[in-house]
Amino acid sequence: MNRTCYTGEVSKAHLDQTVTLFGWVHRRRDHGGVIFIDLRDRAGLAQIVVDPDNETAFATAERIRNEYCLRITGLVRLRPEGTRNPDLTSGEVEILCRELEILNPSVTPPFQLDDDNLSETTRLTHRVLDLRRPQMQRNLMLRYRVSMVSRNYLDKLGFIDIETPMLTRSTPEGARDYLVPSRVNPGEFFALPQSPQLFKQMLMVAGFDRYYQITKCFRDEDLRADRQPEFTQIDCETSFLDEVQIREIFEGMVREIYQQVLDVALPEFPVMSWGEAMRRYGSDKPDLRVKLEFTDVADLMRDVDFKVFAGPAKDPACRVVALRVPGGAAMPRSEIDAYTQFVGIYGARGLAYIKVNDAAAIPEGLQSPIVKNIHADALRGLIQRTGAQNGDLIFFGADRTKVVNDAIGALRVKIGLSEFGRSHGLFEAGWQPLWVVDFPMFEYDEAEGRYSAAHHPFTCPKAGHEDLLESDPGKALARAYDMVMNGWEVGGGSERIHRADVQTKVFKALKIDEEEAQAKFGFLLDALQFGAPPHGGLAFGLDRLVTLMAGAESIRDVIAFPKTQRAQDLLVHAPSPVDEKQLRELHIRLRQTEAK
Ligand code: AMO
Ligand code: AMP
Repeated sequence: MNRTCYTGEVSKAHLDQTVTLFGWVHRRRDHGGVIFIDLRDRAGLAQIVVDPDNETAFATAERIRNEYCLRITGLVRLRPEGTRNPDLTSGEVEILCRELEILNPSVTPPFQLDDDNLSETTRLTHRVLDLRRPQMQRNLMLRYRVSMVSRNYLDKLGFIDIETPMLTRSTPEGARDYLVPSRVNPGEFFALPQSPQLFKQMLMVAGFDRYYQITKCFRDEDLRADRQPEFTQIDCETSFLDEVQIREIFEGMVREIYQQVLDVALPEFPVMSWGEAMRRYGSDKPDLRVKLEFTDVADLMRDVDFKVFAGPAKDPACRVVALRVPGGAAMPRSEIDAYTQFVGIYGARGLAYIKVNDAAAIPEGLQSPIVKNIHADALRGLIQRTGAQNGDLIFFGADRTKVVNDAIGALRVKIGLSEFGRSHGLFEAGWQPLWVVDFPMFEYDEAEGRYSAAHHPFTCPKAGHEDLLESDPGKALARAYDMVMNGWEVGGGSERIHRADVQTKVFKALKIDEEEAQAKFGFLLDALQFGAPPHGGLAFGLDRLVTLMAGAESIRDVIAFPKTQRAQDLLVHAPSPVDEKQLRELHIRLRQTEAK
């Protein structure tokens, strides 16, 4: 017998009709003679009633347990008054069972599907059952919708989907590569792509003009809640457009995705320079839902007695910032102590603070162990510049710039998202997108004593910054942009270098000599010489975008078969040892691994 519709779709529209449904037993309840079954499929739940008058069906229903796979046929009727659930499509109706067939029983599941406190290990080990959970079904369907809307949007604009190799050589995104040994080329290895970056540039040179691909990228890096070793990009590239036009196209795409999938009209995307983002929020992906900002106060603290501030205030590699928390004087000591511990994770050695009881009375209106070591002028300047009012709290970070940015930047978000922040108007729920632009071309790597590419080495410098590539690389800005949503970097890209002479200068700044450049990227440099068009693009992290849209906590919740934080697949047990024969074929002998 054919299925009438999905179980979760049965509604009042089916009243008095006979329907046939297929699904799994979510719950079975025995109500003194009547058996209720919540039947579940990917569209949701419906309530089935099995009456003892129907002896055959009832006998079958008595044998049913959770997760059995069933076919049922029955009559749709209104649920009795008081038992209706308007939140579910099928919540106002129930199906009086006429025929019931067990298509396949199930052994007892290792956990209840509606248990919200399952460990991730349990969930990933039994991923098939975990994926049956309504939330996971919704997440993966949402993911599918996001990629379909993207495809349709890009298709309408003339972008074409072209596949690029998975077995390739190292690409320049700066993480470690996953390597694949070549059996037919002894001693040689493919690298899995960290992104299709170089291929999409070559497709532009080849004249395809508008390319996209929803594709896997592989990066062997330390994993976090928003990172997986293999993840998916919506990867795009265009010719003959500048960065403003490129941003417009892809802002339009994200707008369309939100509109169609969540029915949300996104607000205007502000455009902020990297420098401003770092200055105001200590982060290149600021969460603008949080209404707190940094105030730089180094100039006020140069000559104070408090060494913790005066030292960094005089050091150009350091930063001294105040973070004013409106209403924060009401924060209990225990919370301040917890924040002091929290900033320690980011390397901060303390978290000085001042409670502003009376902003007009300096110093006695300011409550803090550090006030006695800061002269009145500095305190007055501080109150004025932060705009602190009575009842506010001011936190301080004074250290190397990176430590201050990381620590106070994270503190800003932590306070904003806290109970306190939400109840004191420091957090505005909703969607806060943002473009961050004017990134630096290079970051100085202290450990290595040289510059590395902030985005990747094919990013074009801003007009007029070409000479800085040689004279002062640290000051050169890039035509690069990131899309940020609620504090997550969801996408990033740049206008590319399409002239071989500029590319050579960038390699020089990165201390990549001609020989190395030829060896690693010769194929691209060659391609650039055949009339390469001006081109640029970007890539979205599909997993991240979907995680945000689903309101999930980790990108693992929007990936069907993800890896753990230790880069393992607990379901199929990968990675795994291989036998000697296979290794021999690959010309590989393992080093003795140290006993664990
Ligand atoms: P980038 O390295 O910024 O740029 O990557 C683009 C986007 O991919 C997502 N992302 C990740 N998501 C999950 N797990 C990871 N390990 C991970 N790493 C990155 C982020 C990021 O914004 N070729 C360039 C793009 C370009 O210039 O066109 C690139 O790969 O959301
Ligand atoms: P100390 O003089 O070390 O006891 O520190 C006095 C106050 O300054 C304490 O509240 C510390 O938490 C705080 N503090 C110490 N180091 C720093 C720093 N680098 N940045 C901000 N506050 C700090």
